[in-house]
Amino acid sequence: MNNKIKVIRTKKSKIQDVDFNNFSFGSIFTDHMFECDFINGKWVNPTIKPYQPISIEPSASVLHYGQAIFEGMKAYKDENNEVWLFRPDQNFERINKSAVRMAIPEFPRELFFEALTKLVEIDSDWVKYGEGRSMYIRPFIIGNEYAIQAVPSKNYKFMIICAPATLYYTKKLKVLVADKYSRAASGGVGYAKAAGNYAGQFYPTNLAKEQGFDQVVWTDSNEHSYLEEAGTMNIFFRINNTLITAPTTDTILDGVTRKSIIQIAKDNGINVEVKKLKVEELKNAANNRTLKEIFGAGTAAVVSQIKTFQHKSELFELDEQNDSYAEKLKSILVGIQTNKLVDKHGWRYKV
Ligand code: COI
Repeated sequence: MNNKIKVIRTKKSKIQDVDFNNFSFGSIFTDHMFECDFINGKWVNPTIKPYQPISIEPSASVLHYGQAIFEGMKAYKDENNEVWLFRPDQNFERINKSAVRMAIPEFPRELFFEALTKLVEIDSDWVKYGEGRSMYIRPFIIGNEYAIQAVPSKNYKFMIICAPATLYYTKKLKVLVADKYSRAASGGVGYAKAAGNYAGQFYPTNLAKEQGFDQVVWTDSNEHSYLEEAGTMNIFFRINNTLITAPTTDTILDGVTRKSIIQIAKDNGINVEVKKLKVEELKNAANNRTLKEIFGAGTAAVVSQIKTFQHKSELFELDEQNDSYAEKLKSILVGIQTNKLVDKHGWRYKV
């Protein structure tokens, strides 16, 4: 294929209209987007153009069968105005893992990196320097064949859009441990970043919100006994001085933040156990005060502490920790992402 990306720049940037001190996550978008179509078995017409609506017919397969996957990544600016991505190879590999599971054609590596870096470079003024600031990058693929047979689409659209980002959660969270609804089932698509995994969470999360919770902690779909994820994040538990997180099975997303936190914890002498943890074990640990911390980890939310959890009618509140692992790990992670700390694993990627 011809990988050469056509670039059409906007005539007038929207950046002056944005109040970077006052916006919510994912609500405003940068000046440009990337678009590439899969037609006749090939990815064609890679184009960076001004951010704008796309035109699809009502019969487009994504609108009927939800054949859609996405990624979440961020660009960071350091104090010298250099822009960095964090482990983009991981997002590239995962989007194609998701693609395979959702019967979507894989996207070529070279074009992914070329599109990503070119787009971020063009919109680099939108990446702001400062605490909690970054630019969220959303690559995604949708089935775009105009036919409503329930079969994989023949045509697809791969796009990347970008949005300035700030803190996703501004306070510690109160969560409800699921005992009825599930996020993912064994043999299903939980490990893929499939759009429907998120849509399926909205209703149970709304029910939890009506009861005053911020998020749902997902448990296994068979028995609701094992702790899996928290909202749209992976979840970590600190019992005594050991950090525990669930293994990446087919129901758990292989989070880039998750795997980075595990590595940073190990690098800093924190004992990590990747193992299944039961809700009962968690409650016992909370009752005997060996449960010190719970936190979620994800690209959008970074590291978000959970202060309160409820299972059925039992409510548990965690104490403040002077030596919080969540705070320490977050500060090292963000330090690496923003070029403040040594990157000994080669995770940073200069744009
Ligand atoms: C991310 O952290 O990138 C996510 O996927 C969360 C998103 C649904 C806001």
